[in-house]
Amino acid sequence: MVKLSRLWASPWLCLPASLAHDLSQVYLGLRSYFARPNIKTWASLTWRGLHFKNPLGIAGGVDKNADHLNSWWSYGVGFIEVGTVTPKPQSANPPPIISRNSEREAVWNKMGFPNKGAVHVATNLKKLVRPYATPLLVNIGKNRETTNVDAYKDYLSLIDTFENTADAFVINISSPNTSGLRELFKPEFLTGFLAQLRAHTRRPLLLKLSPDLADAAFAEVLDTSLAAGVDGWIISNTTTAREINPVTQAPYFEAAGGVSGRPLAQRSLFLLKSAVNHLGARRGDRLLISAGGVSSPEDVFERLALGADLVQIYSALIFSGPGFLKKVAVAAESLEFSAIKAKNK
Ligand SMILES: Cc1cc2nc3c(=O)[nH]c(=O)nc-3n(C[C@H](O)[C@H](O)[C@H](O)COP(=O)(O)O)c2cc1C
Repeated sequence: MVKLSRLWASPWLCLPASLAHDLSQVYLGLRSYFARPNIKTWASLTWRGLHFKNPLGIAGGVDKNADHLNSWWSYGVGFIEVGTVTPKPQSANPPPIISRNSEREAVWNKMGFPNKGAVHVATNLKKLVRPYATPLLVNIGKNRETTNVDAYKDYLSLIDTFENTADAFVINISSPNTSGLRELFKPEFLTGFLAQLRAHTRRPLLLKLSPDLADAAFAEVLDTSLAAGVDGWIISNTTTAREINPVTQAPYFEAAGGVSGRPLAQRSLFLLKSAVNHLGARRGDRLLISAGGVSSPEDVFERLALGADLVQIYSALIFSGPGFLKKVAVAAESLEFSAIKAKNK
């Protein structure tokens, strides 16, 4: 049951998740025709020549096709990640592909990179004037029929397509919804795969990590990717771990697919702390972006205080709507503590 107060604030929660998602896409698309950037300034950060007026951005999957950029800029985001984009357009996995549990503030999805393909997204980006209203990351992934052995070819072709329009790339090998994709984290793939990508672009490369890597494997992936020359990490994608409903003794969601939102918060926080500790001084000016279960302004400030440079949200937009971005900016204005003061890396 959704609480009445929550329904009042977020009435779309009374609709099925997939319908609410589809309607939001129509609304954001229409709004993008007339919306104007209105970026809030707090805890600014300049990194590799990119200026982030504030550190709170939208995560991969929110604007898969770069169709709604004006809307997101008008809501005040500090940066945008578009995608995941694949070389060829592809449809979603068979339904159901999205569901939610409002009490647990949890979202389940099994989308599988539905997107209009690289040409569509690049055409949208080429219409914009540079510099963009905020830094813009392009999240790249392979088409589902591309094998892991050939995966690098998809990523290289995406880099070619977006080299002049992306401010930085996010390498997505952490989605649980493309069969076998996470195998690319294995050392026998990862070293050569990242070396190919690194040699192919001047743009910063960020690696998006899976929360389901065992702790030792997580540390190993950090070391391997650091040695391969990545410029930062996003921690994390959705999880295949499941909370158990204490009443029914069954998981809240089916085993396939990824869960985001509040149930992911603890693991995401733990991995952020682990990364900060493990990298230590080796981190240098590399970027750490925290995502996963951020659902209040305090969560945002906590991630920054723990060493994240930037923070991303997806599920919070589902439960609180885009007003969440303003809520954080207002809370930040009333705060005076070192972790959210402007910093230059
Ligand atoms: C419906 C949905 C679709 C998503 N699609 C993508 C995607 O295409 N690419 C990606 O890298 N992450 C995707 N994600 C994962 C988010 O970017 C984010 O890492 C994750 O949801 C954790 O953040 P949150 O708890 O704030 O939602 C998706 C998440 C959701 C809920």
